[in-house]
Amino acid sequence: MVEIGWRGHRHLLSIDDFSREELEAMLNAANVLTLDSDEGQKLDILKGFILKPVFFEPSSRTQNSFEAAMLSMGGSNLSPHLTITSSMEKGETEQDTITTYAQYSDFLVVRHPRPNSVREFAITLDKQGNRARVINAGDGSNEHPTQALLDLYTVMKEFKELDGVTYLLLGDLKYGRTVHSLVLGARKFDGVSFVGFPVGGLSLSPQYRQNGYNEHDISDFRQFLETLPRTSRVVIYATRVQWERIARERYENFDQFDEKEKARIRSEIYKELNYQVTAEHLAVTPDLTTLLHPLPRGSEIADELFYSNQLQVAPIRQMRYGLPVRMAALGLYGGKEKEIFELPKGIFNLPAHAQV
Ligand code: CP
Repeated sequence: MVEIGWRGHRHLLSIDDFSREELEAMLNAANVLTLDSDEGQKLDILKGFILKPVFFEPSSRTQNSFEAAMLSMGGSNLSPHLTITSSMEKGETEQDTITTYAQYSDFLVVRHPRPNSVREFAITLDKQGNRARVINAGDGSNEHPTQALLDLYTVMKEFKELDGVTYLLLGDLKYGRTVHSLVLGARKFDGVSFVGFPVGGLSLSPQYRQNGYNEHDISDFRQFLETLPRTSRVVIYATRVQWERIARERYENFDQFDEKEKARIRSEIYKELNYQVTAEHLAVTPDLTTLLHPLPRGSEIADELFYSNQLQVAPIRQMRYGLPVRMAALGLYGGKEKEIFELPKGIFNLPAHAQV
């Protein structure tokens, strides 16, 4: 088998596979790769590398930022997988399809609705001695590790620190894979705590309850904010209700429903399980508070706050950071750690052991 991978990790499957030092190195690489302007700055670090986006679930941010990251690093993208234009339409299995793409690419960025499916695809490729690296772009309600990397990067940019942060987790903590990865990543830092505010009983599963985790009803959120010491560093991590996963539990044949019926069910579930973070909430938080959301959003953040210039509101910056973070992930997994850290860019205040 060809020896590849970053610091012994062959594929990027779970944030929990990273040590604190590895997370810091990844974030540091993202900082080096955060370009000063939007236009025309392209690197050639991954020239000759090919990425195949394989999304069995929809995506706006993850797929496009991975593709943009590959282009920004000098590599190329194959056209994204579409079941109807692939041989899956003729009955080819998902695994055979992944195996096929792996013959032509260096990176497979895979999103799939089944928990642990991406890991299973990667294991099968390893058994074949295939050289492609697999990146988990979200496996059902399980994990979304590169989202957690960009969430941590955003926290780092906002607070210059990842230690001592209090994470307030709002919304769908049961099916929300970004919450799961965030908890598994953030807990690698010191003095971090998590408090959950689920809607409609969508509580965090026991395996993600870390660092003295406790939960409150979402109706107690405002009152809880007022109890926080003014000197706390607080992340309000709002998430949408994963209505499609709830719908599949409620309706056996949900995937066969027409688009109109799906839209009706979405609106019904959003109406039933809704909450909103408002400017009034932010007004009673400690000075160092940032509001994050992995997006897409439902009604959790209204337009006037989402598009405001209020400093505490970070989801658009967070979304933008997906680009340098995914450039870093591709670069490091492409074996280019040395080349990245040779780039002429200031290192921000990460501990020395994270710098190479
Ligand atoms: N945050 C996130 O995963 O967004 P997309 O579903 O648009 O990729």
